[in-house]
Amino acid sequence: MVAAVRVHKLGGPEVLTYEDIDVAAPGPGQIRVKQYACGVNFIDTYFRMGMYPSPVGLPFVVGNEGAGEVMAIGPGISEFKPGDRVAYVAGLGSYAAERLVPTDRAVKLPANIGYEQAAAMMLKGMTVEYLVRRTFKVEKGMNVLMHAAAGGVGLILCQWANHLGANVIGTVGSQDKAALARANGCHHTILYRDEDFVARVKEITGGKLCEVVYDGIGKTTFPASLDCIRPLGMFVSFGSASGQIEAFNINILQQKGSLFATRPTLNTYAAKREDLLAIANDLFAVVGSGAVKIPVNQKYALRDAAKAHRDLEGRATTGSSILVP
Ligand SMILES: NC(=O)c1ccc[n+]([C@@H]2O[C@H](COP(=O)([O-])OP(=O)(O)OC[C@H]3O[C@@H](n4cnc5c(N)ncnc54)[C@H](OP(=O)(O)O)[C@@H]3O)[C@@H](O)[C@H]2O)c1
Repeated sequence: MVAAVRVHKLGGPEVLTYEDIDVAAPGPGQIRVKQYACGVNFIDTYFRMGMYPSPVGLPFVVGNEGAGEVMAIGPGISEFKPGDRVAYVAGLGSYAAERLVPTDRAVKLPANIGYEQAAAMMLKGMTVEYLVRRTFKVEKGMNVLMHAAAGGVGLILCQWANHLGANVIGTVGSQDKAALARANGCHHTILYRDEDFVARVKEITGGKLCEVVYDGIGKTTFPASLDCIRPLGMFVSFGSASGQIEAFNINILQQKGSLFATRPTLNTYAAKREDLLAIANDLFAVVGSGAVKIPVNQKYALRDAAKAHRDLEGRATTGSSILVP
């Protein structure tokens, strides 16, 4: 038996139940991993409350991201061996001391990446990789707007877009978050709870607006985000921290300047093994070079997962959060 955090009934953070579970021996295509850290992500709250349905029904072990050591391998596996240091983004099951991980989702960790750093960056950092390198190629001199710039995805994206030479504008919920975002590559910050962020983006860019807006907030920043984008620019809606965007008339994209809009997910971009490895290697390279740092700003014991969710949903966190079994 190993410690885990399960959901038996959908709801708020209080439904996260710390308990012992059995972990089976690994089957074909699986490795058993002893986890040293599990990543906490906003998507975990979507599954907990049922906004995203659990593919395995109830109860389920929460979480999609972690890092640890391979303890055992399934029959016929040659790519991994016991003792390997690995990290992954995979299906539900990561809030646990040990779990089975499908080998096609696991990657070996370079020696210069620690377990806690890995658990804090696999989902968020690989998301940033595809957002700035694949969904829209950020280039030198471009104006980029990132909402929730001091969050987990936010701090990584600000650093990476800055590294690519963009002029990075970030919205944040407080002065402290503004200072943190600026210390992590954001050139301009906007307090979107107090200020009109569209007016400020116009002012900051001298009326030119942004080539791309990355919006993980959803309901409360839509449709205003579209007014921050220059003609033929890209609206990237990659999350719903404030609730999902409601159905809208697609003609709005024509009215706002023949805009492009996409609703991407890492699952699609990393669906093929070769793409997963390319994205992970690109992330390891920017982190290894020091161009992008991974701020692990909240660390909780696994049994305190409910507090981690309360803090995340209560906008009380910055950067990445991890659970330690
Ligand atoms: N599509 C993908 O592939 C993908 C992958 C990873 C993450 N995501 C999405 O990326 C977004 C960020 O994820 P994360 O894990 O890094 O979280 P996070 O940004 O660390 O936390 C969410 C932040 O959103 C802001 N926010 C604004 N309105 C909010 C509200 N009503 N309730 C709660 N927070 C609100 C808060 O920052 P302020 O206080 O500064 O406003 C909060 O700190 C989420 O929408 C997530 O679903 C998408």
